[in-house]
Amino acid sequence: MSYKDEINMDKLPKHIAIIMDGNGRWAKKRLLPRKMGHKAGAKTLEDLTRAADKLGIKHLTVYAFSTENWKRSEEEISGIMDLLRNYLNGYIDKSDKENIKMDVIGEKSALDIDIQEKIKIIENLSAEKTGLNLHIALNYGGRDDILRCVKKIAQKVADGEVTPNDITEEMISDSLDTGFYPDPELVIRTSGEERISNFLLWQIAYSEFVFNNKLWPDYTEEDLYKDICYYQNRDRRFGGR
Ligand code: FPP
Repeated sequence: MSYKDEINMDKLPKHIAIIMDGNGRWAKKRLLPRKMGHKAGAKTLEDLTRAADKLGIKHLTVYAFSTENWKRSEEEISGIMDLLRNYLNGYIDKSDKENIKMDVIGEKSALDIDIQEKIKIIENLSAEKTGLNLHIALNYGGRDDILRCVKKIAQKVADGEVTPNDITEEMISDSLDTGFYPDPELVIRTSGEERISNFLLWQIAYSEFVFNNKLWPDYTEEDLYKDICYYQNRDRRFGGR
């Protein structure tokens, strides 16, 4: 029996956000360098993206590198960036066989130029596709997202395009990095940690959280189906009764 058969397809979340945590501990348990944990994590991401696409999920946002991750060692950062290069190249090479769209949220200007160029190529290749939208959060922080959004709106006020009274929740939502897609109904964090770590702060106002004990490289399709079932069995009230 698979949890996939238990999923109510009429109540499928449109958007799932994942905090992929536990790569370092996965590597440590195997006496491997942390980089190997991230490598295994990148493979899990590929598998899970395909599974989510097949299931009919429209948006998947994954936290790949936070604004706080720059505090890690230079060696670890360059290891993650190299994996990212491979990952992006893999997407470009296989693009004609895949229907998955990909884009990046976060402050891209701090990323190496070659990575920024690959992201542009991928966003262009993605324009024609109709499958799952994979949003990779890179140099992303929820507070930084809100800060950049406030600056955009303040500029509109300064330019006389809007007055402070015109500012609505919708305008704020639309001005965030996630502007063009719905808020996540479900946020999953792996590795047993129960924190939000500056991910999508505005967008998770009504999200359900599932904290899964598996380390990210061990997380499987079946875990995703199980977490979706768990989410579907909750009673979402949005502050009502
Ligand atoms: C958290 O594990 C994971 C990260 C900070 C990076 C996530 C990166 C990947 C899944 C792979 C690379 C991504 C792409 C898109 C190629 P951790 O290092 O905090 O683990 P720990 O808490 O066990 O130390």
